[in-house]
Amino acid sequence: TKKLQVAIDGPASAGKSTVAKLVAKRFGYVYCDTGAMYRAVTVAALNKGIAVDDRPAVAELVKTVKITFKPGDPDQRVFLNGREVTRDIRQPEIASNVSAIAAIPEVRVAMTDQQRAIAADGGIVMDGRDIGTTVLPKAPVKIFMVASAHERARRRYVENKKKGIATTSLADLQRAIELRDQKDSTRKVSPLVQAPDAIRLDTTHLTIDQVVDKISEIIEKKR
Ligand code: C5P
Repeated sequence: TKKLQVAIDGPASAGKSTVAKLVAKRFGYVYCDTGAMYRAVTVAALNKGIAVDDRPAVAELVKTVKITFKPGDPDQRVFLNGREVTRDIRQPEIASNVSAIAAIPEVRVAMTDQQRAIAADGGIVMDGRDIGTTVLPKAPVKIFMVASAHERARRRYVENKKKGIATTSLADLQRAIELRDQKDSTRKVSPLVQAPDAIRLDTTHLTIDQVVDKISEIIEKKR
């Protein structure tokens, strides 16, 4: 069997990371959350008092930033230049600023390089917005995962509560998600868009296990 690259893209809170983690576990692959990397860059900028739309300053900053994970870490901890930022990156302030950071071309180039290095040996499930289109255009398995905005807000609300993350009302959460999707879909560089060869999976009415099974079947056929 081959160790494949599996690309999972889609809008915010469509269930990508939950599903990607389980798929990776089933096949013994490494899981990489690329959204966490853009969030960590956002933490770095805000910590330094750099405005998220100050392109020259952010472009300088990103040269000094290395985001790492520990392969196979069950807690999926995220490190920014060696310092753990796992909780910091999930704060609402980061969610509302990350799309501006992710729209900066220098940031995308730097993160794309780091992501390709992580995925180089295959045996990887990588989730994000531009994995199938830009980061790993030759990935043999590409999934574009979608769900209604209402369902996505509901899932994120429940998840935040469970994790003890401060959260706004369900309606506010849905508005914030829709705003982020709009920014991510309309930016100039690597916007959120389905790759022509990606399989579209609407998870609105599916359970996590059903989605994991569907993706696993697709992987089984290719490896
Ligand atoms: O996946 P998550 O919601 O954590 O991603 C946070 C943000 O990071 C997205 O809203 C998007 O702006 C950015 N992102 C991106 N490209 C990726 C992954 C995430 O631009 N591959």
